[in-house]
Amino acid sequence: MSSNRDQFTSKLGFILAAAGSAIGLGAIWKFPYTAGTNGGSVFILLFILCTLLIGLPILMSEFLIGRRAQADAVSAFKKEAPNKPWFLAGWLGVLVSALILSFYGVVGGWILSYLFRAVTFQLDGGTEEHYGALFSDLISNPVEVIFAQALFMFITIFIVQGGIKGGIERAGKWMMPALFIFFILLAIRSLTLDGAIEGVKFMFVPDWSYFNMETLLNALGLAFFSLSVGVGAMITYASYLPKTETITSSAFNVAWMNIAISILAGLVIFPAVFALGYSPAQGPGLVFIILPAVFEQIPLGSVLVIVFFVLLLFATLTSSMSLLEITVSVFVKDNYASRRKYAWIVGIVIFIAGIPSALSFGHWSDVSIMGKSIFDFIDYMTANVGMPLGALAFSLFVAYYYKTSITQNELNLPTPMYWIWRVAVCFVAPIAIIIISVYNLFA
Ligand code: PFF
Repeated sequence: MSSNRDQFTSKLGFILAAAGSAIGLGAIWKFPYTAGTNGGSVFILLFILCTLLIGLPILMSEFLIGRRAQADAVSAFKKEAPNKPWFLAGWLGVLVSALILSFYGVVGGWILSYLFRAVTFQLDGGTEEHYGALFSDLISNPVEVIFAQALFMFITIFIVQGGIKGGIERAGKWMMPALFIFFILLAIRSLTLDGAIEGVKFMFVPDWSYFNMETLLNALGLAFFSLSVGVGAMITYASYLPKTETITSSAFNVAWMNIAISILAGLVIFPAVFALGYSPAQGPGLVFIILPAVFEQIPLGSVLVIVFFVLLLFATLTSSMSLLEITVSVFVKDNYASRRKYAWIVGIVIFIAGIPSALSFGHWSDVSIMGKSIFDFIDYMTANVGMPLGALAFSLFVAYYYKTSITQNELNLPTPMYWIWRVAVCFVAPIAIIIISVYNLFA
């Protein structure tokens, strides 16, 4: 192992980094709005099932590949399967993760814009219409959106150029618990609003009319997106883990924390949506419109909202840096001196690639690809096509390329648990991904 590769110094550092990658806009922004547009409860149930039965086993597989190979997402496959085409799965991950970051940076920019408004107390005292108008004015303003996106990408590049573990352990240690506590407090406030019960019903009383293959595909895509699975992020992170550290408990921790934050985010948003008379199905603006309205109902809300957006910014940055790290690590390989150069080149290219997404709520809102805006199209293609394809390749790789003795040894699980994992990666995950994807392709 080359001495100039970064390494996590502790298992906690690794868990925090992996959880930091997973927990971000997926749980806090995308989960509420996708649940909102997919009818709530049934979607939430499917999301949890997809996370546990398909996402988690593949997350373990990515950890396994990364820790074993001690190399970036492309080199890992070249090392483990020399002269075989498996490394193409690594390149697919590079492409898909770069596309994700292209629009992720746009939403990261929205968060910066909201933080600016919070700090200047412009989020106070609004009516319901005010919050809706605030969001639509912001996302349709090309100068602000692109400037904020550039700033967000700049911060991401700046962190990644210095190596991923610098700071993440320290920041993660207080950020993750703080985020949990904030969400619990907000959920309590939201749940005690008049009429909140309708939101709880929306989340937990199944309306089976929404049970169909499209909902299932959306749930699967969100499970992959919010676990950071299917693009090699977790291969990359696990490659910085010393071979002596165990991976299975980390995977479980990442999965449950991610589900917990998602449900909590739902418990903040949906009770308030119904109590304050909004629509749950309003798309990407949902969280940005509802959150300030909930803070409005809290004593000292105008100060707390600042802290909240800072925490949200941290959570988003720990995900965006993992997205950038995938591609950067592929180019840097063992030449640590080139890290800064590649962080800037790759980051700037991705920023430029994201500009059409940034404009797709304003100047370019008329441009559509297959009936979707540019932003929605890239979001859909990455989560619902690219990530499932990558996840399929990773699961087939560990299931059929590695010998049983290797995976058994690497995972070091009690026998029954090992076989549950094995059945999941050999059969459940690949078959489910293929059926769901093919069905939706021809539907
Ligand atoms: N899991 C991140 C989130 O939920 O915000 C998004 C993400 C990060 C997806 C890293 C993929 C990835 F490789």
